[in-house]
Amino acid sequence: MTPEELKALVRTVPDFPSPGIQFRDITTLIRHGEGLTATVSWLADSARDAGAQAIAGMEARGFIFGAAVAIELGIGFVPVRKPGKLPVATIGIDYQLEYGTDRLEIDPSLIDQGERVVLVDDLIATGGTACAAAELLRRAGAIVERAAFVIDLPELGGAKKLGGIGVATQALMDFAGH
Ligand code: PRP
Ligand code: MG
Repeated sequence: MTPEELKALVRTVPDFPSPGIQFRDITTLIRHGEGLTATVSWLADSARDAGAQAIAGMEARGFIFGAAVAIELGIGFVPVRKPGKLPVATIGIDYQLEYGTDRLEIDPSLIDQGERVVLVDDLIATGGTACAAAELLRRAGAIVERAAFVIDLPELGGAKKLGGIGVATQALMDFAGH
């Protein structure tokens, strides 16, 4: 499938979660077998090109794509979790949302020192989530230089922000404007 055909499978929901926001909903894309397969294959190519030795995905939607990419490449998957979910000692980082803050945690013992980890998530907006995940994985000893997304919202500056900390962004499609 072409990137344009895959883009047409993303549903746009107006005014969610708040008035004026156009929510880009990937559930219609992942419900489509051929669309899901092509999307995962594109993400896997990006991760393979970057020399991925492991994939990290951010809870929750990053788990859907990240685990599938790891399986396609025959490598392991590291969950980057929302707080309080992991049963072992964790390292965590608080990060800024548009309104308020959130927190991500990982089990640092899952990372081999100097291992090349590629981030996978459904969407990059402000880049807050991905920057926090990259920083956490680096603290645990990983090399993080590539992040692959299904969707980029370029006007929100996430790819620039990630680039500023040395992580190159690739996205299958972008939604600019309204
Ligand atoms: C969404 C999306 C990305 C993040 C992007 O996650 O899945 O992970 O926001 O935004 P940012 O670039 O501004 O950080 P969210 O935590 O809202 O929901 P989820 O648990 O469904 O993935
Ligand atoms: Mg998310």
